[in-house]
Amino acid sequence: MGTLRVALVGFMGCGKSTVGPVLARRLGFEFVDLDLDIQKTAGRTIPEIFEQDGESSFRALESECLARCARRSHLVVAPGGGVVIVQANRRLLRTHFHVVYLRARPTTLAERLRGEAEHRPMLRGHPLEDRITRLLGERGAFYHEVASQIVDVDGKSPEAIAEEISNGLKST
Ligand code: S3P
Repeated sequence: MGTLRVALVGFMGCGKSTVGPVLARRLGFEFVDLDLDIQKTAGRTIPEIFEQDGESSFRALESECLARCARRSHLVVAPGGGVVIVQANRRLLRTHFHVVYLRARPTTLAERLRGEAEHRPMLRGHPLEDRITRLLGERGAFYHEVASQIVDVDGKSPEAIAEEISNGLKST
C-alpha cells in the first residue's frame, strides 16, 4: 500500500517548512504546515495564542490539528518543533506517520534562528544558544523515539534532503 503520511519533525529552524513542500511535490502529496493550520483554526497568530492563553492552550490546539491530519492521507505534515513533548502526539506520530527527524547541529540552528524570537515565543527571554541547548536536551530523545528515519541536514539543500527522504521511503 505504501506510505500514506509523512511527518517532518525536528527543532525550530531545522528546515521542516522548507523541505516539506519540496518533498510533497516529489511524492504528489499535499503539504500541511501545522502551525498555519493552528493559526487558521484559532483565528490568531501563534505569538498571540501564547500571549493570551499560554503554552498549554497552544499545545491542546496543536494536538487537535495533528489528530485531524492523522485521519487524512497522502500528505506531508510539518508540525512545530515542540510537538514531541506531548506523549499522545508521539504515539500518534509513531502509529500513523512515516516520521523523519531532520537533525541539525545546534550551531546551524543558532545561525538560522538569530532574530527569530519575535515569531517564536519559545525562544524569548533567554540567550539563544542557552535556549537551544536546553530545549534540545529536553527534546532530543523524543525526536529519536518517534523517528522512522533520521536525516542530517547541515549543509544540504532542501532538494537533496527531499531526495534522501524519498529514497528512505522506497526502502520501507
Ligand atoms: C515551537 C515551535 C514553532 C511553533 C511554536 C512552538 C516549539 O514551530 O510551533 O512557536 O515549541 O519548538 P517551528 O518549529 O516551525 O518553528
